[in-house]
Amino acid sequence: MEKREQLYEGKAKRIYRTSSENQYWVEYKDEATAFNGEKKATITGKGELNNRITAIFFTMLKERGIDNHFIRLLSPTEQLVKRVEIIPLEVVVRNIAAGSLAKRLGMEEGTVLPQPVVEFYYKDDALGDPLVNPSHINILGIASEEDQARLEKLGLAVNEVLQAYLQERNILLVDFKLEFGRTPDGEILLADEISPDTCRFWDARTKVKLDKDRFRRDLGGVEEAYQEMLKRLGGEAHV
Ligand code: C5P
Repeated sequence: MEKREQLYEGKAKRIYRTSSENQYWVEYKDEATAFNGEKKATITGKGELNNRITAIFFTMLKERGIDNHFIRLLSPTEQLVKRVEIIPLEVVVRNIAAGSLAKRLGMEEGTVLPQPVVEFYYKDDALGDPLVNPSHINILGIASEEDQARLEKLGLAVNEVLQAYLQERNILLVDFKLEFGRTPDGEILLADEISPDTCRFWDARTKVKLDKDRFRRDLGGVEEAYQEMLKRLGGEAHV
């Protein structure tokens, strides 16, 4: 497999074409951003940790029947994925009130929600990724109602699998964000990453945060928290 030209550089990853038309090369960066890019830092080792954690989650999801773009690891910080065109919607699933939901609805962080909440955000940096409802998605022409229903169903299915898997590792899955893409033949496929950058993970006993909130809120120990997540998932970093 050969790495070809860069197609895209995001806040946490670079995407490259490869010698195969239907496969992309993803490189995870050590850069961290929060609050729509306003806060920036380099966290040594983050690229490797998120690359490995994402690989573990995607492999596990595939084994449990949830197909996704992951093909294989290429190096400690790189992975090969299936080519998709990302749908500009962030699908957020929540089990416990935190972050923007706690703020928007005036709920105390840590309140267990009576049922999972699914939200869609329009992926647009200039607009700050606003929350959108089905009518908004319709007028923006981003996804049909059938596709929206499919995204919601997939989000809830990922939630069930991840929650059970993490529970066995003494981790609470507070909330997470997923992205989906369309394959060249139009199939919707889970894509992007699943990592402490895109999820809230709390230690089930102590409620200690093992995710990007440590960076957002200047709690310190960001890399250690990501290391701890990788360890609980049975992985090993080779920095
Ligand atoms: O900030 P908020 O509470 O809406 O975030 C919900 C979940 O989605 C969190 O796990 C957060 O890490 C993730 N998220 C993300 N990328 C964004 C916005 C939120 O990964 N642009």
